[in-house]
Amino acid sequence: KLAPRLALMTSAFVLGASAASANELREYALEFFKPLPSTVPAVQDNKITEEKIELGKALFFDPRLSASGVFSCYSCHNLTTGGDDNMETSVGHGWQKGPRNSPTVLNAVFNAAQFWDGRADDLKAQAKGPIQAGVEMANTPDNVVATLSSMGQYVEWFEESFPDEDEPVTFDNMAKAIEAFEATLLTPAPFDSWLNGDDDALSAEELAGLELFMDKGCIACHSGINIGGEDYYPFGLIEKPGSDILPEGDRGRFAVTDTVDDEYVFRAGPLRNIALTAPYFHSGKVWDLKVAVQIMAESQLGEDLSEDEADKIVAFLGSLTGEMPEVTLPVLPTETMTTPRPVA
Ligand code: HEM
Ligand code: HEM
Repeated sequence: KLAPRLALMTSAFVLGASAASANELREYALEFFKPLPSTVPAVQDNKITEEKIELGKALFFDPRLSASGVFSCYSCHNLTTGGDDNMETSVGHGWQKGPRNSPTVLNAVFNAAQFWDGRADDLKAQAKGPIQAGVEMANTPDNVVATLSSMGQYVEWFEESFPDEDEPVTFDNMAKAIEAFEATLLTPAPFDSWLNGDDDALSAEELAGLELFMDKGCIACHSGINIGGEDYYPFGLIEKPGSDILPEGDRGRFAVTDTVDDEYVFRAGPLRNIALTAPYFHSGKVWDLKVAVQIMAESQLGEDLSEDEADKIVAFLGSLTGEMPEVTLPVLPTETMTTPRPVA
């Protein structure tokens, strides 16, 4: 899969090197990147309605989806800090430390598949994972349905969101509502304005960084709407990073496909808002974006970037920081005497 893209990049190099005009650079960039859509995208098998978005928002913020009543989606995907938790690896049920760094939920709807290893096809499949994961929310689908059914307001919201269904309060519908809310978490960035034709949206340094990002070959793996999140590659394609950064215990997609070729294969990280979501990599071991860029250049491309080149690429990555969606805090339904009690 890499080969045709790398071939394309060779022609890029000629363009980039010859001080291409802004338009030529944009045309070339548009072969790899797509601007963020300005409206909420359609998702498969889940018609997005206002009612579902509002229900999904309540669920996203509701800690009672966890067995302990402590952890909500928001605990690890904080929308005020870039949609993640800014920790090396997340802390969940019983203060356990999980195995991987929390990726952002912002723009996640555009990833080809969810999780560092792509083991969930889409956001509705993904949402069922953390609620049941022992180190995250440690709950069961039955207990979640019992919890939601115990509050009249939630039952009403499910009825309004799934009007054709006799028993709308289900674990599947909970996941669909969360997906609908997540599909609204879009962050248009200066890079989008530039792709859409605004020459002034990027500074000279950011443009120089974009050219480097393309010419060096980062685009072979980081492209599309999310500048990544589309396909899988070995972490350490050219040179395997040390076990301090790529711990041996986590073999990535190997656990999903059981294929030796997938050992240490991960989804190329989506790079929108990357300046907000340190620490980096699935291990969360790298706190400095510049260092993460240098590691990528070495491990994936066999390139030693100069300080200046790394600075410029970091500047370009900064232009992927978008405008945060405005989210008003939901008022959650109050629990009743039949609501299952939190367990430690
Ligand atoms: C991954 C949403 C709860 C920690 C993800 C992803 C999404 C998401 C969309 C994939 C993003 C991507 O692949 O780019 C949710 C929702 C939750 C929830 C809707 C509530 C139902 C939590 C909680 C924690 C957590 C409570 C922390 C205890 C993580 C981690 C990953 C992840 C560590 C990466 C796991 C891996 O790749 O194996 N989450 N999350 N999430 N989330 Fe959550
Ligand atoms: C992850 C940048 C080239 C595949 C990342 C991350 C950054 C980044 C900042 C961390 C994402 C995060 O923590 O959320 C770059 C830059 C490149 C480059 C600036 C060029 C110098 C490549 C290439 C490939 C690739 C050529 C494929 C051959 C990946 C993969 C990950 C990743 C698989 C996830 C690693 C993990 O498991 O933690 N990239 N990248 N990258 N990139 Fe790149």
